[in-house]
Amino acid sequence: MSSSSCSCSPWGLSTLFLAFLMVASVMVGAYGGNFYQDFDITWGDGRAKILNNGHLLTLSLDKVSGSGFQSKNQYFFGKIDMQIKLVPGNSAGTVTAYYLSSQGPNHDEIDFEFLGNLSGDPYILHTNVFTQGKGNREQQFYLWFDPTKDFHTYSILWNPLHVIFLVDGIPIRDFKNKEAIGVPFPKNQPMRLYSSLWDAEDWATRGGLVKTDWTKAPFTASFRNFQASACIWSSGKSSCGRRRAGSASTAGDGWFDQELDAASQRRLRWVQKNYMVYNYCTDVKRFPQGLPPECLHS
Ligand SMILES: *[C@@H]1O[C@H](CO)[C@@H](O)[C@H](O)[C@H]1NC(C)=O
Repeated sequence: MSSSSCSCSPWGLSTLFLAFLMVASVMVGAYGGNFYQDFDITWGDGRAKILNNGHLLTLSLDKVSGSGFQSKNQYFFGKIDMQIKLVPGNSAGTVTAYYLSSQGPNHDEIDFEFLGNLSGDPYILHTNVFTQGKGNREQQFYLWFDPTKDFHTYSILWNPLHVIFLVDGIPIRDFKNKEAIGVPFPKNQPMRLYSSLWDAEDWATRGGLVKTDWTKAPFTASFRNFQASACIWSSGKSSCGRRRAGSASTAGDGWFDQELDAASQRRLRWVQKNYMVYNYCTDVKRFPQGLPPECLHS
C-alpha cells in the first residue's frame, strides 16, 4: 500500500496549514470493518461480545450491569460511520450511547444517545455537543423508521468547520464553527469513539415516568460496518492517511472540507421540521438571560 501521511500538530493549526489541508482533499484514511482490530471492550464483564470474525458486536444490559467499548484509535477530525440496531421490544429506561469524546475537565464531546421506549412507542435520538467541558446543547429527534427492526447508519462528520450528525446519510444537525463570535469549537483535542448500553430509568423514558421492565432483560443492541475516514492521533501527531493511488474513491472522500450543499440543507430542514422534538436553541425558559450565542446566528 503506497500510503503516505501528513504529520501535523493540530494545536498549531495555522490558517496557512488549514488552507493547505482543505486543498489537499485527497487525504482520507478509509479504515475499517473489524471490531477486534478497531475496538476494545472496556466494561460489562462478558456482556459485550465480538462475533462473526469481528464483523458484529453486541452490547447487553441486565439488572447487574450494562456494557461498553471504545476505539483503539484517537481521531482528530474524521467521518465516522456505524450501523446500529437498537434494543427491540420494551426498551424503556435503556440508553444506547454512541459518541466521540476527548478526556479531561475541558473535554469535547459529540453525542448520539438513543433513549428507549415501551414497545411500539418511539425512541428519542438525543444529540449534544460539548466544547471545552460545556454541553447544554441538546437537540432531540424522533426517527422516520423503526430503529429496532434493521441496522441503520449513524454518522458523525467532524471537520474544522462543522460537526454534522447524519442518519442514513441524512443530516439531522449541523453544529457550525462559530469561533468568530466566541463559541468554542471542538478542534484542539483528539477524541476516541465510545459506545455503551446502560440503564437510565430515572430520566430516559418520558422523563423517567416509565421504568425499565427487568423481566425483559437482557437487552441487546448490535453494531456492524464501522468505517472511519479520519485523521488518527498517535504520539502527539495526527496522520491523515492518503487514498491509495489508483484505488476507487471511498465514501469518505472530501469529508475534511465538506459542508451541506443545498439539497442536504433541504433534507436537514425536513428532519428538523418533522422530527425534532427538542431544541435548546428555542428553549427560552431555560435561558432567561438569553439564548446561547450560536443559536442567534444560525
Ligand atoms: C416514548 O413514547 C411517548 C408516547 O408516544 C413519547 O411521548 C416519548 O417522547 C417517547 N420517547 C421517550 C424516549 O420517552
